[in-house]
Amino acid sequence: MNEASPKITSDTVRADFNDVRTVIHYARAAHFLGLWKSEKILIDRYFPDRQARLLEAGCGAGRVAVGLWHAGYHHVVAFDFAAEMIEQAENLAQEQGITGLTFLQADATNLRGGAASLPALDPSEVGAVIPNRPSGPADDKNPPRAVRDNGPHLTETAPASPGKCHLFDDTFDGVLFLFNGLMQIPGREHRRTALRELRRVCRAGAPFIFTTHDRDDPADLKEWAKEADRWARGAQDPRLHEFGDRYFSDETGNTFMHLPDRKEVLDDLAATGWAHVEDATRNELASETPRVRNFSDNCRFWVARKA
Ligand SMILES: C[S@@+](CC[C@H](N)C(=O)[O-])C[C@H]1O[C@@H](n2cnc3c(N)ncnc32)[C@H](O)[C@@H]1O
Repeated sequence: MNEASPKITSDTVRADFNDVRTVIHYARAAHFLGLWKSEKILIDRYFPDRQARLLEAGCGAGRVAVGLWHAGYHHVVAFDFAAEMIEQAENLAQEQGITGLTFLQADATNLRGGAASLPALDPSEVGAVIPNRPSGPADDKNPPRAVRDNGPHLTETAPASPGKCHLFDDTFDGVLFLFNGLMQIPGREHRRTALRELRRVCRAGAPFIFTTHDRDDPADLKEWAKEADRWARGAQDPRLHEFGDRYFSDETGNTFMHLPDRKEVLDDLAATGWAHVEDATRNELASETPRVRNFSDNCRFWVARKA
């Protein structure tokens, strides 16, 4: 590791997502964009039952979670590891009079955060507890099982860590990681850890919908050939972990993003117990509004099921 240019870590990414410029960017999207047409198409296709218990990873300022609520999904737990994003998401839900969405601060690579201390927890001591849910369909008295553990004892022992939360095995009917959040986890092994964690908390057969940018997009092949040459010479940005990583800055802040090729995504899904179902680019799925196209480039939607 180069001392002058340390590798990008999840702390770097979390700090970037807590940056005020980035928070404003995603809060605007949550207020003004809502669900994209392409997202709605896949959500309707894979979650025809509005009672589905859904988990949204990397929820940012609440664009998707609030959109899901308005689309009739009222059993949604959404989490993000950036505290500022969660605050925005909670504010947005509150502004809209939504009381039933659960937002948690949690890291997708570890959803067992408070597990070790859970048996000792007195629910009255922690900020919010959704009790263990007996099996059967979710309803208002029987919400998805999640425990948010932000008790004072944890703040004392782990002041710098994101909120601790424990999500139980085999709980959710589906999981969403939209607008490329999975690819903002630095290091392939860490992304695989997140894939395993998300799988663990889903019931068998549960769909998983996520997006990536394509590294094999023909329009970018020349640029990637130049980047491959830099890696071959050891002249790449020393903060990067793997070929396909990018770290760049613009008026909305700093962004780390890994761009996978098709084989990499398929291999990672297979290695972590997900069966690939289909994939398509956003432009193939729908014609998005200029506002959405202005907010974000084309991306590829992937659908897998817990094998
Ligand atoms: C590109 S933003 C998308 C936000 C939101 N889903 C949307 O579409 O507007 C990606 C989000 O993933 C979150 N994220 C990245 N890595 C994460 C991790 N390991 N655990 C939880 N959240 C993560 C970031 O904090 C950020 O809010």
